[in-house]
Amino acid sequence: MKIFAIESSHDDTSFAILQDNKPLWMKTITQTEIHKKYGGTIPELASRMHVKNILILIKELIETKIDNKEICKNFDYIAYTKEPGLIGSLQIGYIVAQTMAMIYKKPILGLNHLEGHFYSAFIEKELQFPTLCLLISGGHSQLMLYSKKDSFEIIGETLDDAVGEVYDKIARKLNLGFPGGPIIDKIWQENKDLYPNHFSIPKTENEFDFSFSGIKTAVINRVNSLNQKNEEININQIATEFQNTVILYLKNTLKKAINKFNPNLIVLAGGVSANVGIRNMFLTLHKNVYLPEMKYTTDNAMMIARMAYEKVRK
Ligand code: KG4
Ligand code: ZN
Repeated sequence: MKIFAIESSHDDTSFAILQDNKPLWMKTITQTEIHKKYGGTIPELASRMHVKNILILIKELIETKIDNKEICKNFDYIAYTKEPGLIGSLQIGYIVAQTMAMIYKKPILGLNHLEGHFYSAFIEKELQFPTLCLLISGGHSQLMLYSKKDSFEIIGETLDDAVGEVYDKIARKLNLGFPGGPIIDKIWQENKDLYPNHFSIPKTENEFDFSFSGIKTAVINRVNSLNQKNEEININQIATEFQNTVILYLKNTLKKAINKFNPNLIVLAGGVSANVGIRNMFLTLHKNVYLPEMKYTTDNAMMIARMAYEKVRK
């Protein structure tokens, strides 16, 4: 079975082809460089860039050959990200997917982006249940419990900011650049032995919900107070202690969830799952851990193709 998928929910335009759970081809164009100067994604600009980028991908799709065979043929299904995401960006993926479905006379599947992140850990792998998935990205932070195929429950989610969003905001406050996650992660790797402390760990009514805005405020307050007192701001220390806090907070919450739900497998997904500190911590939590390959941690069409494959296979 050959599936063609499109992802365009945020600022990445991505095409992928999956054949019987084997990745055949993937191409992603990211807009990070463009949004960098604004410190965050500008939706109107993102849509316009998708129009430009998707045409580049269509051309590549038509021209690419593997083993002398054109890849743009014999699709059984066309899949695309339907929701959630930026409306203007989603529509561009949808219109191209719909056009292809009409040309190839094949069924089309509109899929959920967040569930897609869950499937990013199962490319070339089989599903297992129950699975507990921590999805952490620039827009979402949630704990999903999959008890069986197509049946999941969100057992906890952020009540305010998403983890990636806080990374980006703190990086901006510390003048580190955008996106903040990889920059802070790098600082953490170089300084973690020097600065073991952390900011205070938030509490929420539902023990599996998250609240990250308190951590953000604590970091910003520390910077402001040092500024007021004209004292030196040790950026490496603040960034490292911030990441220590995130790791410890996620670890405590996951331990509680694992104890309660006793999953067979735990999965880490979403853009923030590229974080070295979080990945290493996650690996210590359970005997059975799946982490997506780095290229599938950020938004990509292969995870959407993988999800489509699961939805339609017998
Ligand atoms: O899933 P994703 O690619 O996009 C959306 O959420 O739409 O996630 C992007 C987020 C950004 O906030 C970025 O700062 C964060 O993932 N990120 C990281 C790392 N790499 C990317 N956060 C922490 N550590 C990283 N190494
Ligand atoms: Zn995403």
